[in-house]
Amino acid sequence: MGRMEGKVAFLTGGGAGIANATAKAFVREGAKVALFELNAETGEKAAAEIRAAGGEAIFVKTDVTQDESVRDAVAATITEYGRLDVIMNCAGGALQEDVPVHRMDLDVWQRTIALNLLHPFLCCRHAIPHMIEAGGGSIINFASHLGLKGSEKPAYAASKGGIMSFTQTLAAQYAEYGIRANAIAPGAVRTERAIKRWENKEWLLAENPTPAARARMALQKLYPFSIGEPEDIAAIAVFLGSDESRMITGSTIAADGGRSSYIKVQPLE
Ligand SMILES: NC(=O)c1ccc[n+]([C@@H]2O[C@H](COP(=O)([O-])OP(=O)(O)OC[C@H]3O[C@@H](n4cnc5c(N)ncnc54)[C@H](O)[C@@H]3O)[C@@H](O)[C@H]2O)c1
Repeated sequence: MGRMEGKVAFLTGGGAGIANATAKAFVREGAKVALFELNAETGEKAAAEIRAAGGEAIFVKTDVTQDESVRDAVAATITEYGRLDVIMNCAGGALQEDVPVHRMDLDVWQRTIALNLLHPFLCCRHAIPHMIEAGGGSIINFASHLGLKGSEKPAYAASKGGIMSFTQTLAAQYAEYGIRANAIAPGAVRTERAIKRWENKEWLLAENPTPAARARMALQKLYPFSIGEPEDIAAIAVFLGSDESRMITGSTIAADGGRSSYIKVQPLE
């Protein structure tokens, strides 16, 4: 029996990256999934791949920054599967134009906050009544190692810092309904978008990791380029989505190979 047998989950941004890997992991563990994705091509393809492998998945074209679009996507999930147990608010990212505050366009700040912070609020707003009806559930939000402290991307860091406190509030407000809320704060993860962003980085192109590349994570032996895989994050999401994590709520799990807590020390003798 799978670790998420009988559960229904939606994942935002399921057409690519971490949410795509997690949707597949959820289905392997017995869940049915709805992919809320803006890109119709990747969203439909991802759902079709899951179905071809024998799983249950639907694609719902959704703009997660728009209230009505999220409302309709949640309704479509309920129509298809009749319940909702796990929601993973994963779509997100930073814009290139997220530059120091006095040079940033207002629009860049607003778009970043809409994607990374308004979107989880909208998903919770429409999903929570159904989770209450189901007798409980698990909310999985996405922060970042860049939200655990300040970063050179002010809007992104603020949105990811905000999501952690929003997660704690959700945990407190909905505990009595059996709803848990946690966040994952990944370090660098090898997704297509991230690779595009890094394509000019010499340290990534080198055949062997440079000392600078290695120095970004504590777990250097496992991650010599200091980059994790989407499946690493998916495994944590399965744990948070399943009842195995039933004692955990209000937490942000740093999944960054020790990057956020790493102080360089001499190797042990
Ligand atoms: N990849 C990393 O290195 C990294 C590091 C730290 C945090 N994160 C966070 O993890 C999460 C997932 O990142 P990823 O790298 O897998 O992202 P990704 O860019 O690979 O995938 C994001 C998906 O979201 C979709 N999307 C974008 N805007 C949307 C919208 N308005 N409505 C619906 N779908 C939309 C995209 O089409 C894409 O399929 C994000 O919240 C990101 O901030 C990622």
